[in-house]
Amino acid sequence: MTQDELKALVGKAAVEYVEEGSIVGVGTGSTVNYFIDELATIKHKIQGAVSSSEASTERLKSHGIEVFELNDVDRIPVYVDGADESNHLLQLVKGGGGALTREKIIAAVADKFICIADESKLVPRLGEFPIPIEVIPMARSYVAREVVKLGGDPVYRTGFTTDNGNVILDVHGFEINEPIKLERLLNNIVGVVTNGLFAERAADVLLLGKQDSVETLTR
Ligand code: 5RP
Repeated sequence: MTQDELKALVGKAAVEYVEEGSIVGVGTGSTVNYFIDELATIKHKIQGAVSSSEASTERLKSHGIEVFELNDVDRIPVYVDGADESNHLLQLVKGGGGALTREKIIAAVADKFICIADESKLVPRLGEFPIPIEVIPMARSYVAREVVKLGGDPVYRTGFTTDNGNVILDVHGFEINEPIKLERLLNNIVGVVTNGLFAERAADVLLLGKQDSVETLTR
C-alpha cells in the first residue's frame, strides 16, 4: 500500500470512535482530510464539528458538515488528528501544517484524542522532525536566540502565516529525552504562543496504518 492508502485506512478507522449525536474535534493535514471525507458518510449521525484550521473548516463545510465555534461548545468527546511523529508513549510532534495552536487547544478540551498516522510516523525518540513553534511576529528574533540557548537550531518558516496571524520557527537539532520538560521550557519563552510538542496532553489512542492492518496503540 502507498502512504496515501495507509492514511486513508486510518482515516476510515477513526470514524468508528465518533459518538452519535456529538460534536467532533477535527485536526488538520493530509491524513485528517481522509477522516473528514469519511466523516461525511455519517454526517447525519453527528451534530457537527469543531475545526482546528481554516483548511479543515473549508473541507468540512464543502461536505455539508456544520462547523461550530469552540466557545459555543461544552464538550468534545473525540478529537481526531494526525501527527508528524509519535513515540510509544503517544507523545507527539505536530505542526508540520502550522495549525499546532488550535490543534493543542481542541486536544485539551477533548475527552479522547485519537491520533491517526501511517507507520512511518512512529519513532523511538521524538525530534528527527523539527519542532514547530508558533511565535508572535515581533518576538521572532528574541525567541530564536532563546531557543539557541536551549540547544536548538531555529529556522524561520518564510512566507507562512498561521491562521492566528503569527509566524513559525521550525527547530532542528534538539535531543529530546524529556519531551514534557522541553514542551514547558519552550512555552515559557515570552513571545511563544505554543510549540508542537504534544507531550503533556499526549494522544490517548494511536491508529497506525500498516501494510496489512491498522494497529491500535493506547496509553
Ligand atoms: C498540522 C499537523 C498535522 O497533523 C501533521 O503535520 C501531520 O500531517 P499529515 O497528516 O499531512 O502528515 O500537525 O499542523
